[in-house]
Amino acid sequence: MTRRSIGIIVNGVTGRMGYRQHLVRSLLAIRDAGGLPLADGTTVWPHLVLVGRSETKLREIAQRHGLDDWTTDLSAALARDDVEIYFDAQVTQQREKAIRAAIEAGKHIYTEKPLAEDTAAALDLARAARAAGVRTGVVQDKLFLPGLRKLKRLLDGGFFGEVLSVRGEFGYWVFEGDWQPAQRPSWNYRAEDGGGIVVDMFPHWHYVLAELFGEVRAVSATTATHVPRRVDEAGRPYQATADDAAYAVFELDGGVIAQLNSSWAVRVFRDELVEFQVDGTEGSAVAGLRRCRVQHRAVTPKPVWNPDLPVTEDFRSQWSEVPDNEDFDNGFKVQWEAFLRHVVAGESFRWDFLAGARGVQLAELGLLSAREGRRVEVPELSL
Ligand SMILES: NC(=O)c1ccc[n+]([C@@H]2O[C@H](COP(=O)([O-])OP(=O)(O)OC[C@H]3O[C@@H](n4cnc5c(N)ncnc54)[C@H](O)[C@@H]3O)[C@@H](O)[C@H]2O)c1
Repeated sequence: MTRRSIGIIVNGVTGRMGYRQHLVRSLLAIRDAGGLPLADGTTVWPHLVLVGRSETKLREIAQRHGLDDWTTDLSAALARDDVEIYFDAQVTQQREKAIRAAIEAGKHIYTEKPLAEDTAAALDLARAARAAGVRTGVVQDKLFLPGLRKLKRLLDGGFFGEVLSVRGEFGYWVFEGDWQPAQRPSWNYRAEDGGGIVVDMFPHWHYVLAELFGEVRAVSATTATHVPRRVDEAGRPYQATADDAAYAVFELDGGVIAQLNSSWAVRVFRDELVEFQVDGTEGSAVAGLRRCRVQHRAVTPKPVWNPDLPVTEDFRSQWSEVPDNEDFDNGFKVQWEAFLRHVVAGESFRWDFLAGARGVQLAELGLLSAREGRRVEVPELSL
């Protein structure tokens, strides 16, 4: 068995996503499993080069996980011949210039979403990467969640007949930071620092809708900043300048209407932090992060509207659980493995910078729709 080491820069490894999902749950998990096996018997071994701004934090993370390759000098890391992949989980605003440097250094690039702050910049990165002949990928983790995988299975099996509509609820209460610390970084609530729920969530909604139901052709969005004052990590009050809720309708290719609410100012009365209800002519499903429940046409009850009587049916109990039927691994890890196979073995990988640019475009047009109070068509993007 041959072992093929591949040097990967992990930039932003001290952050929430960089540390937990990408370093620990994906790259270190691949190493813990002995590397990533390829079809030809080769094992891919990620050699990690941790990059960040704080020496103290990097050293501490490296020591905790028995790693010894880290630096605060991104240019020096990019200049190394033994590094083939640049990965970016920095705050969004720092991403574009780092990716540009990585393209110039000839590295393959994998990155957190959103790819860039606006569509023009995202497309420009996609074109530059193509011209440089480097491979690209953008995180689209929700596609690999067990709940959505089961939903995809239902779609592929024709369970719904004709899909009519999708309604999604995403969100939870993000504490203001005064009497309890906030559970998300404060930059998320400042537009000037790249924050906002539209910029954060619409890239996800784009790939979920496009991959499962059809490309988004138009968006109508209303946004709000429900909590205008928050307190940051250092205990300083600040003005929340970014949207913390978005109420949007997406019109999809083929006629499906998707209505998705996203909010950091909502208290959860659901079974999971995100849930999508899909209604079709033959059946309906409700999918969350992990679970997926269905109700077929043949077993659909016939409620009759009568506010004078108490509810007689337990509606939730009328749905059946879709079985797992397989082991679902961490979604971030599954996508990392696909990207590594793409780089090392040339396997196909469709979640590239152009796909990422489409997510950025939907966020940009969603904000435009909210600003101008109108429905906005979403033009096809190409390189
Ligand atoms: N795929 C997902 O589900 C998902 C979820 C949350 C966030 N994200 C994305 O991941 C990225 C990081 O988000 P996070 O929640 O981990 O943020 P975070 O604030 O926890 O981490 C940000 C990282 O960027 C680094 N950084 C570099 N330059 C910086 C600067 N000038 N100011 C502040 N930090 C700087 C920080 O040191 C840290 O390592 C964002 O682009 C976000 O959109 C993706």
